[in-house]
Amino acid sequence: MVEIRIPATSANLGSGFDSIGLALNLHNTVGLEEADRLTIRSLDGVPIPLDEHSLVYRAACRLYDVCGRRVDGFAIEQRSRIPMARGLGSSSACIVGGLMGANELLGRPLDRAALVDLATEIEGHPDNVAPALLGGFVASAVEAGRVYTVRRTLPEGKLAFAVMIPDFPLRTAEARAVLPEQVSHADAIYNLSRTSLLTAALLEGRYELLAVAMGDRLHQPYRLPLIDHAESWFAAAKEAGAYASAISGAGSSLLSVLPASRAEAFRPQAEGWLRQNRLDGWRFQLFGIDNEGASVV
Ligand code: HSE
Repeated sequence: MVEIRIPATSANLGSGFDSIGLALNLHNTVGLEEADRLTIRSLDGVPIPLDEHSLVYRAACRLYDVCGRRVDGFAIEQRSRIPMARGLGSSSACIVGGLMGANELLGRPLDRAALVDLATEIEGHPDNVAPALLGGFVASAVEAGRVYTVRRTLPEGKLAFAVMIPDFPLRTAEARAVLPEQVSHADAIYNLSRTSLLTAALLEGRYELLAVAMGDRLHQPYRLPLIDHAESWFAAAKEAGAYASAISGAGSSLLSVLPASRAEAFRPQAEGWLRQNRLDGWRFQLFGIDNEGASVV
């Protein structure tokens, strides 16, 4: 059985809707081998689909199809530490685990760029799957079915990523359904200027620019009403020393970027905010960057 380790990811970072993402040091694992029928085991007891609806299975089958190979089934074993439907790339981790596992079983016919293309085709947008596969910070654009990416290592120990994880899920389809069909020219300019600034600021280490660079008018104004307490947390996080906050991916989690040196002082403030608002079912977690991306264990 091949085993793949895949990082959680946070997409968008505010302004970079469907384009920017980064990998976090929280991981799922997917074990995969050929078998005469499909069996799926959850090694940690987390409830996951155990039939043909499994994204791991669908991704593995897609890779075999693309490579013109036939298989009767797979034995799949999963460990699922990334919370599901919380905007932390759990479905991307399944897709990437299935694709990479299948690619290993076939002797690596596809390179990483081809895996990013295939994963994006399955997921619909590249901003989680690209950092899940490549690690670090990734900017992506899709043109005629191909994904063009620039991936950069972010220095370890400079930034911490604080994540508030609500006790309710938010399906990406639901969070996309509230977005308008069209946006104004002014809003488009607002976001594209900030996305450019965001990329430059992260690559140059000009983190103080994130407060402006993570501003967004394309998706968050429409999604914030779906996430109770989000705006109150953004204000509290700023007060506690975060550079900036955003909805993580399509939500429901909330991501704050802060100097790594402030991380430990930030934790009690975040936990105090949770207590004050009686959000017993919510969780607060601190992460660092994962610069490795998906790997064979
Ligand atoms: N860019 C995507 C969105 C990420 O915000 O809808 C979620 O999968």
